Amino acid sequence: MNLPATPIAKGTSFTAPCTLGAWKKLEDLAQAQAVPHLRELLSDPERALSMSVHLHGMQLDYSHQRVTPSVLAALAELAQASQLSEHIQALFSGDQVNVSEQRAALHVALRGQGVTSPPWGESIQHQVESELERVCSFVNRFESHGLKGYSDEPFTDVVNLGIGGSALGPLTCVQALESLNVGRSPHPKVHFVSNVDAWSLWQTLEGLNPRTTLFIVQSKTFTTQETTLLAQSAKRWLSDHGCPPMALSLHLVAVTAREDLAAKQGFLPSQTFRFWDWVGGRYSVWSAIGLPVALAIGADDFKRLLAGARAMDEHFSTAPTLQNIPVLMALLGVWNRNFLKAPSHHIATYAYRLRGLTPYIQQLDMESNGKGTHLNASRVQVETAPIVWGGLGIDGQHAYFQLIHQGEHLVPVDFIGIRQDQNCPMPLTQEHLRCLHLNMMAQAQAMALGRDESHTRSEMQAQGLSPEAIDALAPHRSFKGNTPSSSLWLQELDAFNLGMLMALYEHKTFVQASIWGINPFDQWGVELGKTMANELARHPDDHA
Ligand code: F6P
Repeated sequence: MNLPATPIAKGTSFTAPCTLGAWKKLEDLAQAQAVPHLRELLSDPERALSMSVHLHGMQLDYSHQRVTPSVLAALAELAQASQLSEHIQALFSGDQVNVSEQRAALHVALRGQGVTSPPWGESIQHQVESELERVCSFVNRFESHGLKGYSDEPFTDVVNLGIGGSALGPLTCVQALESLNVGRSPHPKVHFVSNVDAWSLWQTLEGLNPRTTLFIVQSKTFTTQETTLLAQSAKRWLSDHGCPPMALSLHLVAVTAREDLAAKQGFLPSQTFRFWDWVGGRYSVWSAIGLPVALAIGADDFKRLLAGARAMDEHFSTAPTLQNIPVLMALLGVWNRNFLKAPSHHIATYAYRLRGLTPYIQQLDMESNGKGTHLNASRVQVETAPIVWGGLGIDGQHAYFQLIHQGEHLVPVDFIGIRQDQNCPMPLTQEHLRCLHLNMMAQAQAMALGRDESHTRSEMQAQGLSPEAIDALAPHRSFKGNTPSSSLWLQELDAFNLGMLMALYEHKTFVQASIWGINPFDQWGVELGKTMANELARHPDDHA
């Protein structure tokens, strides 16, 4: 049943992607196996140079992707046929791109401070700028010890209580940028608790001083069961340690789109920060949800994080298709997912400080594009989001990379590395950095080139193994290769670069949704479980 489509952008209409000429062209290219093995493609010495895009020191090297100029041309044609530029314009203009909830998705406005004649309008610009000002002055008051608890002592620790988009973005940033504080005057220690398991809260609180601990309760809806219970427990912890009831609110900050609910629960207006329903949870780190980040790194560096995201926004909304980093990564992902039929997509970060990035991208990508319904309410006719998995690449090499090298799944990889590290106080930092670089490059090469059986046999022969041993072992020790990857290099891991990186993945997600003809900004799929949990809570005996 094809309902009249609610176009994602004014003046556009929904067309099933698999009916587009460009889609059929890509199917033909894939079926004709028109792309040689990466061993052959990478024998071209110019390939890496011609297949790199740069932005403010960031480099995307996509030479290890299984594409040729004709595949890239067909992908660019698909972007155009999918009305991508109209969709990007709609996103920035505040159109109701979240068609099932009739909302805009204006995370780009959150980092658009100072933009003249903003496409999202002056009213939103003013709201965003004034709330950012409130966040920054709160941070400055905290740093000047103007914020005190029930014992009149300044706060030393901040505990963020929130889950999903109310935790993952801020956690990623705090972990990635903790190095900024090396050698700086002490900033608060910021802790994150998202899991309702009491041990998770206990292990965080047991070492903290209630008199100097501030809780930030982050929840867009302010009705998330887990966060509500964590907040209740936090209040109980404060009271049990001597905080008088009237002083509880000094230790509590709310960040929410429902200020009314926060007020009803006793949060002070001066310690309640707002964001709007046109900000998706998984796109919200740039809003007041970023308060724990601003407290951890300071207001100036928080603004640099926003500036990095803004730089990516400008690139995304102006660069030509095949010079546009988010668009390229999205199109390569579509080629791998829909035409090479890869069921998953792997993120391998080669920087310990980026250990939060994969969980962040998992929510961003799979909660946005893990959908089965096209914009016109028909059942999808193409594969949508892949299973996103991964983690720290160095650890992966000694664990699950085996499957990527010799398993039966095709697993495209994003390798993410940092070129320079000037902050780490360890004396051998540069040796550690070189080890990271070499391993990241070696893994991309091994996955692409592999080692065919004839080479394996010659190597084993050279090692002096007997013909019988070689016959028995060579198949086990050979590698098919041809696993595609992109390598994303940041010049250094500072706030600006991190802002670019996180905004890059937001836009990649949006482009893929635009091509698949789905809505990346709703998440009806998470509703059923919540409803059933509430039902069980109301009738515990029925299901004991
Ligand atoms: O259940 C999924 C979800 O709604 C996410 O989209 C969201 O980021 C998270 O839960 C937390 O929601 P809230 O910020 O409203 O507590």
